[in-house]
Amino acid sequence: MKKNCYITTPIYYASGNVHIGNAYTTIAGDALARFKRMQGADTFYLTGMDEHGLKIQQAAEKQGITPQALVDKIAEATKKLWLDLGITNDYFIRTTDQYHMDVVSTLFEKFLANDDIYLSEYTGDYCVSCEAFFTKTQLGPDNTCPDCGKPTTKVSEQSYFFRLKKYEKQLLDFIKANPDFIQPETRRNEVISFVESGLEDLCISRTTFSWGIPVKSNSKHVIYVWLDALFNYLTALQYGTDNQKMYQKYWEDAEIYQLIGKDILRFHAVYWPIFLMAAGVPIKNRLYVHGWVNMKDGKMSKSKGNTVYPHDIINRYGLDSLRYYLCKELPIGNDGLFTYERFFERFNTELANDFGNLVSRTIAMINKYFDGEIASPKQVSAADASFEALINEVIKEASAEYDAFHLQNALNKIWKIVDRANKYIDETAPWVLAKDEAKQDELRSVMYHLAEAIRVTSILLSPVLIESSPKVLVALGGVETPKLADLQFGYQYKNRVVSKMDPLFKRIDAAAELEALEKAKAPKEVFKPEISFDDFNKIDLRIAEIIDCQKCENSDKLLLLKVQIGETIRDVVSGIAEKYQPKELIGKKVVVVCNLAPAKIRGHVSNGMLLCASGEDSLFLLESPNSHSGDLVK
Ligand code: ME8
Ligand code: MG
Repeated sequence: MKKNCYITTPIYYASGNVHIGNAYTTIAGDALARFKRMQGADTFYLTGMDEHGLKIQQAAEKQGITPQALVDKIAEATKKLWLDLGITNDYFIRTTDQYHMDVVSTLFEKFLANDDIYLSEYTGDYCVSCEAFFTKTQLGPDNTCPDCGKPTTKVSEQSYFFRLKKYEKQLLDFIKANPDFIQPETRRNEVISFVESGLEDLCISRTTFSWGIPVKSNSKHVIYVWLDALFNYLTALQYGTDNQKMYQKYWEDAEIYQLIGKDILRFHAVYWPIFLMAAGVPIKNRLYVHGWVNMKDGKMSKSKGNTVYPHDIINRYGLDSLRYYLCKELPIGNDGLFTYERFFERFNTELANDFGNLVSRTIAMINKYFDGEIASPKQVSAADASFEALINEVIKEASAEYDAFHLQNALNKIWKIVDRANKYIDETAPWVLAKDEAKQDELRSVMYHLAEAIRVTSILLSPVLIESSPKVLVALGGVETPKLADLQFGYQYKNRVVSKMDPLFKRIDAAAELEALEKAKAPKEVFKPEISFDDFNKIDLRIAEIIDCQKCENSDKLLLLKVQIGETIRDVVSGIAEKYQPKELIGKKVVVVCNLAPAKIRGHVSNGMLLCASGEDSLFLLESPNSHSGDLVK
């Protein structure tokens, strides 16, 4: 293990609020960062915002605000979100930070001077959503983007180009010589075949919009957003400024985990290393490529609009459940799924039952049988000894999985202890041992082993379950978290366990929750098609006083009314007899549609209509007691 560790997430587009897909990478990165710190590594965890480019300029225009106002707003909301999710990032970079812009702008000039960049003419197709250029052969049907399927736009302008081609062989050699550079292997193979099929020089500036870093030597151009964005990983370490300490420590002399989703593999595995080569920066980083959190209808994304936001979940079900679900859901190299059904299932089975109950039962039994004391055992059975061996083995296995950023595997390994502990309770049946005075030592050993199981489990889970794990350690009498290298079975407990403990995870009534969610989701109101103000203005609405009223002889529903509108008296038929008695209506001031074409109802001509508020099982005449008969309603 290296002494220093640098972990990065992609910097998210500041075009909309981040959803649980983006949150996945940041939460997963946070779990890794917490693990590395536990391992003793001096860790720097970076996340931030990608704030330039056409996509953001367009989003701002849509909202009628400046791009700067938009990115300020989203950066603030995102920082707050990371706080709410317990993210322990050491810095939050924004590509509109002046020092970042200065360094990128200087690098651009350096690339120009070294002939890595040249000026030419670009004609091609651009996907604004992906901020990516495509050649004719790459495009999907009807000139759609091959990555996201949206329509592309034709671009024809003078542009700077980066000589990717020049670095093709060097890149391929590097990837082949460094099998760890891109993980997992399937992604590495994809990149190799992409590069082997030949690279094209990359259009690296734009002239048709302005929201970007201007090219210093030619201010008509702004620098392509991906060149700008990728260098965040270095500028965040103050690379290119007077102070190179951070850069030396966390880049040149560190283990570097760059976490990305598979959607941005090409940018990170092809452009980024080539940019580093051109800048003369050693390629010390490794790319850890994860799959997508899919919804039932495919990838969750801002552009698609099928998003779930982290607050939707944490406000209702707590922070740990979201962190756990996401870390558990994505297998290496594959996609995961988010559905509420699956979320409730995991919550109830894994968190509430398997883990939460294990903790409550253990604490309760230690209280009941030994008055809260956990004493080291005097005698150990064969079952106890093998349980101890399993715990020590899992500590090693789970650590190795965390270290490889295989979070799902790490959690599966930890669950070996949880499952075993639950079985161990059934097998040893402490409630039977407790009845036999001669089995006190045996019972003591069982309690000790269970305490150790939940202590070790909680420590191993602490990178993920950031709220619950500390609670368990407190419940065990306030045990300290050791350095990972010192974590093993055999803790000497000094204090009694807490006498009472609230459940860590309260079971969710999945059916009731799903129903509530469905209700909240269903469009509450279905409105009629829009009308213009002129359309509305055609309706003549007036206050009318009811001056006479009687039942319609051949109907239970209808009332015959006389209403006075200013000087005019009208006959009106209204279907309110089931609700109102004729007597109670006289003298009421109500609203009448005066210019509705007369209608014959049950032989009576109705010359107007009374307005009512009618719900599923309610009906009320609209009244305006203080108005004057004849007043306009508008
Ligand atoms: O691409 N499942 O930003 P972005 C899992 N600004 N992860 C997901 C996801 C999903 N459904 N949706 C998004 C950009 N992500 C650029 C990056 S870096 C120099 C510039 C995560 O806002 C995943 O990590 O589109 C993906 O790579 C990233 O969010 C893209 O976020
Ligand atoms: Mg995206």
